[in-house]
Amino acid sequence: MVSIKTVAVIGGSGNLGHFIVQELVSAGFDVTGLTRASSTNSTPKYPDGLNIVNVDYSSFDSLKSAFAGQDAVVSVIGSLGIASQTVAVDAAVAAGVKRFIPSEFGINTRKVARDSPIAKIIGGKIAVVDYLQEKASANPSFTWTGISTGIFFDWALRAGALLSGINLKDKTATVVDSGNEKWQASLRSDIGKAVVGVLKHPDETANKYIGTATFNVSINDLISLVEELTGSKLAVTKESSDDIQKAGEEKLAQGDFSAFINFLRVHNSKDGAGNALSNEDSANGIIGLQSGDLREVVTAWLKESGAL
Ligand SMILES: NC(=O)c1ccc[n+]([C@@H]2O[C@H](COP(=O)([O-])OP(=O)(O)OC[C@H]3O[C@@H](n4cnc5c(N)ncnc54)[C@H](OP(=O)(O)O)[C@@H]3O)[C@@H](O)[C@H]2O)c1
Repeated sequence: MVSIKTVAVIGGSGNLGHFIVQELVSAGFDVTGLTRASSTNSTPKYPDGLNIVNVDYSSFDSLKSAFAGQDAVVSVIGSLGIASQTVAVDAAVAAGVKRFIPSEFGINTRKVARDSPIAKIIGGKIAVVDYLQEKASANPSFTWTGISTGIFFDWALRAGALLSGINLKDKTATVVDSGNEKWQASLRSDIGKAVVGVLKHPDETANKYIGTATFNVSINDLISLVEELTGSKLAVTKESSDDIQKAGEEKLAQGDFSAFINFLRVHNSKDGAGNALSNEDSANGIIGLQSGDLREVVTAWLKESGAL
């Protein structure tokens, strides 16, 4: 029975990372936050009083020394640092780390066709999980867990129409195909709780790629709820997933990686996409995560936005 007490977090100062650090600290883990000496990150920061270590993510020695005495490494590194995780994996193995959680936290990259356009953008993530599998096979005391979460729902609502499909200010909504397809969505605080759940259940989650979600939701669910709660109709525009995909492929051909948003919208919302989290694929039961209440989350967002 493996037990995890000490946890180093890579990129824990970031958009998702600060929620993960918060939940790990609340759950009683001994947390160390890693940051680049060159970091210009100011908001959000690590919490006051947390043990912080400056590292160079390209240096095996720097990372090995930061990982000494750590039972687990959780990487929440931002997209531009994804490829550097292979050095961190090597350093974790050498330092005797028992569990490595890579910076996945989105769509299930194990289910993405490797010759698909979206794989051209998230290929770095796929390669890191392949590398973890290799390293864990060669070093039985070293294990990994990949976590797919779907979209960061609380962040997407606040990031605006492109991600959430709803523009509250203009009272508009954009629907892909029929709008009925449900997608996997997680609150960032729940992702923090999911990481805690994985580290508290190390045996059940060893060398697995798991899925978690606060809920599955469709744009039509969201539109109905916003209209009901605000008592005001949204003007709906329809888009076809084939057109969104084609526009994404054209962007990618020009080297424009904002094509990811096109591919993500199709992945989530194309009629028949089937990428909501199924009961069969959900690890919520194993890691002890409760489903969330969509109405409660949307009500809080509407209040915060001044729409209620
Ligand atoms: N599912 C979704 O909706 C969704 C949305 C956004 C992101 N994600 C995924 O979630 C994970 C974390 O993303 P995030 O948005 O939280 O990341 P982020 O805030 O952009 O970055 C996290 C941290 O990584 C470090 N970092 C940033 N750029 C770096 C670079 N070039 N090299 C090395 N370190 C760098 C920074 O820490 P220091 O400055 O302290 O070193 C930063 O605070 C990623 O895997 C991302 O793809 C998913």
